[in-house]
Order: sequence, then structure tokens, then C-alpha cells
Amino acid sequence: MFDRLETGLSFSETRHDPARPVALSCRNVDFRFGEKQVLFDVSLDIHRGEVTAFVGPSGCGKTTLLKCFNRMHDETRGAAMTGRIMLGGEDVNGPEQEACRLRSRFGWVAQRPNPFAMSIRDNVVWGARIHNLVYGRKEEDALAERVLREVGLWDEVKDRLGASGLSLSGGQQQRLCIARALALSPDILLMDEPCSSIDPIGAAKIEEIIRGFGARETVVIITHNMEQAARLAQKIAFFHMGRLVEDRDSVEFFTRPEAPEAKAWLAGRFG
Ligand SMILES: Nc1ncnc2c1ncn2[C@@H]1O[C@H](COP(=O)(O)OP(=O)(O)OP(=O)(O)O)[C@@H](O)[C@H]1O
Ligand SMILES: [Mg+2]
Repeated sequence: MFDRLETGLSFSETRHDPARPVALSCRNVDFRFGEKQVLFDVSLDIHRGEVTAFVGPSGCGKTTLLKCFNRMHDETRGAAMTGRIMLGGEDVNGPEQEACRLRSRFGWVAQRPNPFAMSIRDNVVWGARIHNLVYGRKEEDALAERVLREVGLWDEVKDRLGASGLSLSGGQQQRLCIARALALSPDILLMDEPCSSIDPIGAAKIEEIIRGFGARETVVIITHNMEQAARLAQKIAFFHMGRLVEDRDSVEFFTRPEAPEAKAWLAGRFG
């Protein structure tokens, strides 16, 4: 069965390398929504210069863990985490951490494109402006052009930068949201099924951005599309019922999964 997998998937050209610097690490992370525990003892390293894909059945805790990284649960009543998450040597939950500043070190891209109800240009520069990363119109214009080029949107929108971000197509909106995230020069891009509502051509463009940013910085992507995970990721983290069951090089994971849960899940998808 796994021979078929070996030939059926195309993999990224680069492999996982544990010698790469660790951008973010989790140690013994437990997470509860009130009485309900949804993450159990998760320990994981995310390496710089790599794309790490979170995969696993619906409800296994992928989004919950991703939101722990940039403290998006802070305002959720009853949400409680124990364990430790370190971003470049800093505890993300440390007393000195200020949530807003911490979040600016991450780019967040949601499943559904969610541009602000403002112009294309302002969508891109708004976050950078409030975090004082740019000053004045000239710098904002330069930033908008740079990141819109980076996501391949510049030629499509350069003549209508004042139009609403909501006037773009879904795929364009998602690239606008990625541009907005990149404008903060984040350390890590966190993407929760970023292509699931996007057509194949739009998805291919987004994959190109992920590949480029992942090679330079760090990307964590949640995806239910195993072809996409294989194409993009150097490392796969497979979750099952709130536990991290297997995390390793993506070629090894897809061709020689070790954990019974991973084997069963892959067999269900590909068998
Ligand atoms: N705000 C919340 N309050 C209570 N329980 C929640 C909340 N958000 C998620 N959960 C529960 O936590 C568990 C993990 O959910 P999570 O969204 O992390 O799964 P997932 O792996 O991202 O699933 P999917 O692939 O469907 O997106 C599920 O049982 C879910 O019902
Ligand atoms: Mg999810």
C-alpha cells in the first residue's frame, strides 16, 4: 500500500533537517476548554527555514494548538494551557510578554479570507502602521507595493489600490490577507487551511508564497490536503485525539508511517 503512496505523491525538494535552528518549541502542552481537555502533553519543535504541516482527523486539536502559539485563546473564557511554548528563546506566556506585540511576530492566515472593510492599500499597511513599522505615506506605499508583489497581486490591483479589499475575488482576497500578514515581517506564518476555499490556480499561487516564505523564515500550515502537505512541507506533525502521535520528515511520514493511528489514517485516505 505504501509503495503506492511513494509513487503517488510528489514531495518538496528539500527535506527536514533537525540541525536547522528551532523557531518555536512546545513542551508538555496541555490545553483545556473548561472541563474538556483537547491537547495532551504536546512537545514539538518547529524549525526555521521549513514548512511544518499539521495533519490529522477533524477535531484532533490542530487549530487549538496553532492558536496557542500566538495566544489567540487569551479572550476565550475557560481556556487554559499548561506547559511551555518558546518563540526564539522567549516564553510566549511569560509575564513580560505583551499579547499584541507577541502576535505581531506571527502572521495569521485563516481558512476563509477575511479582508478588512477598507481599501486594498490600507488592508496591507494597516497592521504595520499600528505597530509603528512604517511612517508616512511614502513608506506605506513602498511597503504595499513590496508585499503585494511578493504575493503576486501587484499587477492585478495596482490600478485600483483605493478599491475595497472586499471587491476582490476569494483567491485574491486570500492573497491580500497573506500580504497583510507579510507586511509585519513576521518570524512565523501560521496558516489554518489557507487554500480550502480557493480554486486550484489560486491555491497554486498561495503554495508558491508558502514555499518562498518557508524557505526563508518559518511556516506552520494546517491542511487536510495530503498532496499539498507532501508538496510543501519538510516536516509533518500528525495529531490524533489531542495527542501529537508522530512528527518527522514528510517523505518518511508518508512512505513509512510508524504509529498505528497514522497508518490507519493514511490507509483510509489513500488505501
Ligand atoms: N471555543 C471552544 N470551546 C470548546 N471546545 C472547543 C472550542 N474550540 C474547539 N473546541 C474543541 O476542541 C477540540 C479540538 O478542536 P480543533 O478546532 O482544534 O480541531 P482541528 O483539529 O482544528 O479540527 P478541524 O480539522 O475540523 O479544523 C474539538 O473537540 C473542538 O470541539
Ligand atoms: Mg481546525
